[in-house]
Amino acid sequence: MSPPRSRPPVPHWAAAACVGGLLLLSVALWKDVIGWGPGRDELGPLDPKSYEAATVRKVRKDMTFGGAPCSSCHEGTEPLQGDPKERGVFHEAIELKHGRNQHCFNCHHRLKPENFANFDGTQITLASVEQLCARCHGTTYRDWKSGAHGRRSGHWDVAKGGPNATVCIACHDPHWPLFKGFEAAPAPHVNPRTRKRGPRAGEGMEGAPH
Ligand code: HEC
Ligand code: HEC
Ligand code: HEC
Ligand code: HEC
Repeated sequence: MSPPRSRPPVPHWAAAACVGGLLLLSVALWKDVIGWGPGRDELGPLDPKSYEAATVRKVRKDMTFGGAPCSSCHEGTEPLQGDPKERGVFHEAIELKHGRNQHCFNCHHRLKPENFANFDGTQITLASVEQLCARCHGTTYRDWKSGAHGRRSGHWDVAKGGPNATVCIACHDPHWPLFKGFEAAPAPHVNPRTRKRGPRAGEGMEGAPH
């Protein structure tokens, strides 16, 4: 049996070069010198518009037209007939785009147009205008009452005042209730370096369970 061959010793300079090389490599990877590492998104400060609490409309406090109360012209003695030709003289600026709901007196009371008409002919005032909407949008009204539609502010704690519901007409123009298109917010600031990513929502998800 021959004695085991002893390995030739590694020269010190080679060992030092190896350790030094590995150190350099780790620093290079850590600092991402080549630029192959994953890109990082830098998020700028959030635009205050994105969390603004104001609603899209201002809710009017009283029913006036050109500064005058409705009753200054509509004395409430004769029920309005709703002649569309006559409307043009004074209220031509009103654009009624409420789907099939195209008649002023579906909402306004014929004798006192500053109020709104309920099913039974009784009057709903501006202060409880949601009762008007509830006539035809019962399910949305129910959702709104339970806090699922519209917006809530105030407190969960009833002792501190409880929640406030935002009234329908703070968001919807009663004459044209659909929202007009909003300006889209700019895309988030993304690192210019290409970034490897998985599929985004809606991409390559065909056939995935919903
Ligand atoms: C400066 C006068 C004036 C004021 C103020 C005024 N109206 Fe009128 N309004 C008229 C005239 C004129 C007509 C058409 C003639 C008519 O039928 O009496 C009319 C018609 C209407 C009609 C019926 C439209 C149709 O189809 O014929 C409604 C609803 C109405 N007004 C609502 C209001 C409401 C609500 C206010 C208050 C916020 C108001 N008006 C304030 C002058 C006025
Ligand atoms: C007399 C019934 C009636 C009243 C009162 C009424 N609406 Fe409507 N509303 C309708 C009808 C009908 C439609 C569906 C339009 C269509 O599809 O033709 C509609 C549609 C809408 C839409 C959806 C718009 C769209 O084009 O899809 C909104 C939002 C809306 N109403 C809000 C309100 C608000 C807020 C009030 C109270 C100020 C109100 N409505 C009062 C009958 C009514
Ligand atoms: C869906 C219900 C609805 C219909 C339909 C409707 N209105 Fe109104 N209208 C309101 C409500 C609610 C207000 C008060 C709230 C507001 O102005 O934001 C109002 C406000 C007004 C005002 C005072 C504010 C303004 O915009 O000058 C006038 C005038 C008026 N309506 C006239 C009319 C006329 C004329 C018609 C028919 C062409 C009509 N409305 C159809 C619900 C309705
Ligand atoms: C804080 C704002 C806000 C308030 C308050 C609000 N809505 Fe809406 N509503 C929206 C938005 C946003 C949509 C969806 C966008 C659109 O359809 O224009 C919507 C949609 C609707 C629609 C269309 C059908 C649907 O459900 O998608 C109806 C009808 C409606 N709202 C009625 C009401 C009524 C009635 C009230 C009050 C009882 C109310 N909204 C209060 C914001 C609001």
